[in-house]
Amino acid sequence: MTQNSKPGTRPANPRFSSGPCAKRPGWSLEALKDAALGRSHRAKVGKTKLARAIDETRDLLNVPADYRIGIVPASDTGAVEMAMWSLLGERGTDVVAWESFGAGWVSDAVKQLKLADVRTFEAAYGEIVDFAEVDFDRDVVFTWNGTTSGVKMPNGDAIPSDRKGLTICDATSAAFAQDLPWDKLDVVTFSWQKVMGGEAAHGMLILGPRAVERLESYTPSWPLPKIFRMTKGGKLIEGIFKGETINTPSMLCVEDYLDALAWGKRIGGLEALKARSEANLQAVETYVEANGFLGFLAADKAIRSNTSVCLQFTDPDVTALSADEQAAFAKGVAKRLEDEGVALDVGAYRDAPPGLRIWCGATVETADVEALMPWVGWAFEAQKASLRMAA
Ligand SMILES: Cc1ncc(COP(=O)(O)O)c(C=O)c1O
Repeated sequence: MTQNSKPGTRPANPRFSSGPCAKRPGWSLEALKDAALGRSHRAKVGKTKLARAIDETRDLLNVPADYRIGIVPASDTGAVEMAMWSLLGERGTDVVAWESFGAGWVSDAVKQLKLADVRTFEAAYGEIVDFAEVDFDRDVVFTWNGTTSGVKMPNGDAIPSDRKGLTICDATSAAFAQDLPWDKLDVVTFSWQKVMGGEAAHGMLILGPRAVERLESYTPSWPLPKIFRMTKGGKLIEGIFKGETINTPSMLCVEDYLDALAWGKRIGGLEALKARSEANLQAVETYVEANGFLGFLAADKAIRSNTSVCLQFTDPDVTALSADEQAAFAKGVAKRLEDEGVALDVGAYRDAPPGLRIWCGATVETADVEALMPWVGWAFEAQKASLRMAA
């Protein structure tokens, strides 16, 4: 259906950014009023809050009791690099990527750590690598949900339970919205800024028993900055995983994360969070199926992300354009949506194919996604009309 006039309904909240993501419904600064501000994070009040953030994360994500959960510096990137720098090099490493954040971990392993024995497996945007080629007796670094391509792991079936290597999984845009098979994952990282709509700056580093065993039995040959160090005298610093952070956290961000966790619990926990995100993807799918001008970058539903939903324009008038023109077209559509105040930050990631990326995580309301999609149709038609006028 061609949408030439502006739709009558606007999303109540136009925030569809893939990070920082929309705050939870009903959030206001009032949620932070109990923050332990101006107090030491090592005082009882601060330590209690940090420990609660860890305990409630375990609760909501069903993290096994023998996995450690730490709050670490530098958001998800900090958590991933802390794991890579601390654990890799003991054996060969396979690094797997299918979009730009995964490619960043490839670059870390190859160009920065310069690992002696490293293999890399990369797939194009919209696709996923063939995990049959990956050797899980080596260490494997991968991203569960590729935020810039909207491609996720279908499940953990490709990962053997009796693997000899460690699996290091960047799950930042998956945690709280997709199932994470803990028995297949030795290291999991994420940031508060994604599915829960928290703040960036702090990372969550979750370590399974085999990762801890590696930390205590292996010392990398390269130097480790203080903010990466998790052991002392060959033993794990257990305090890190009880809320005794390596350096000073923001108690304002901690309060905000506690608020997000409480919301998640209140609405029904992980199943409810996942269901909200799935319903959002469904709303996009319903519109795409009924309107021929858009398609998913991830054509295969089994690997299609329900959080970072990446779309491209499939209309023949657009696909006939040059690559630069297609990029300009997509940017033009995103700008119209932003100018109308109906969708903020929905342009595709800079390294990804031109298109739109609509965050559909748990904090986004399905009614807002439903209200947005006809606006996408309107912006598309308006952009096409401007192409015709320029011709
Ligand atoms: C898959 C993935 N990894 C890493 C990052 C970096 O996260 P942060 O900026 O929280 O460190 C992002 C951010 O969008 C991401 O989507």
